[in-house]
Amino acid sequence: MGYDTIKVETRDGITVVTVSRPDKLNALNEQVIDELTKAFLAVRDDASVRAAILTGAGEKAFIAGADIAVLATCGPVAARENSLKGQALTLLLENLGKPVIAAINGFALGGGCEMAMACTLRVAVEGAKFGQPEVKLGLICGYGGTQRLPQLVGRGRALELLLTGDMIDAAEAHRIGLVNKVVKKETLLADCEAIAKKIAAVGPVAVKFTLDAVGAGSLDAEATYFGLCFATQDMKEGTAAFLEKRPAKFQGR
Ligand code: COA
Repeated sequence: MGYDTIKVETRDGITVVTVSRPDKLNALNEQVIDELTKAFLAVRDDASVRAAILTGAGEKAFIAGADIAVLATCGPVAARENSLKGQALTLLLENLGKPVIAAINGFALGGGCEMAMACTLRVAVEGAKFGQPEVKLGLICGYGGTQRLPQLVGRGRALELLLTGDMIDAAEAHRIGLVNKVVKKETLLADCEAIAKKIAAVGPVAVKFTLDAVGAGSLDAEATYFGLCFATQDMKEGTAAFLEKRPAKFQGR
């Protein structure tokens, strides 16, 4: 499928999706959101793809937010639609059933930070910058930031970022739990691929059920998914392989 604003490349079962508007610091307009949605639906529906990486083109930015030129001309109805569409993409990322790793190569601001927060894991380069600067534009977050930032870093730290609009660097983002890992820019994609491969080597159904159980947010759901594992070939193979002292060969069934 051809895309104009993103690049999609699949290698060894890992799809790398790159937002590609470097002259606008990869700002999100409707076309980018639509293309990202199509690309991640394809990742979801392709059983041979085990993980995805989301990153930004160019040296400066992961995603510098929603496109402010577009926001500046929106009325309330269009703005609500824009928010719902962006939120739908974050829910798709969060509920893909396979891991999505945000490879944060620069500015992750506004909608960019929100897309990163909807990913399963976040790996940032040393020079990356994070923030929710919407209040500086007289706006609030529209792509889930008021909900996911408190979940990730706690309410107090989230409110400080949400209300001041301050930017923080990668080291601070790591300290407060906004990113999982900080790496050198030269190794960003390789480091993300290494994590993706580690997850690709374990039971695919267990990965999906883990994501589903965490997403469901209840002990009841955990018990149900735990029980469902016992109906899978993967569970039979994983436990048999352990007892037979050999590597497991998971089929994702
Ligand atoms: N929407 C639209 N265009 C954006 C953008 C955004 N969110 N972020 C950056 N751009 C554009 C700039 O307008 C500029 O375009 P131009 O060359 O046609 O003038 C280009 O990207 C480069 O950005 P610039 O501001 O010149 O780079 P910088 O290095 O001086 O500053 C930032 C980088 C990230 C600090 C600055 O671009 C910024 O504050 N962006 C907005 C961040 C934001 O508020 N995001 C939340 C939106 S709700």
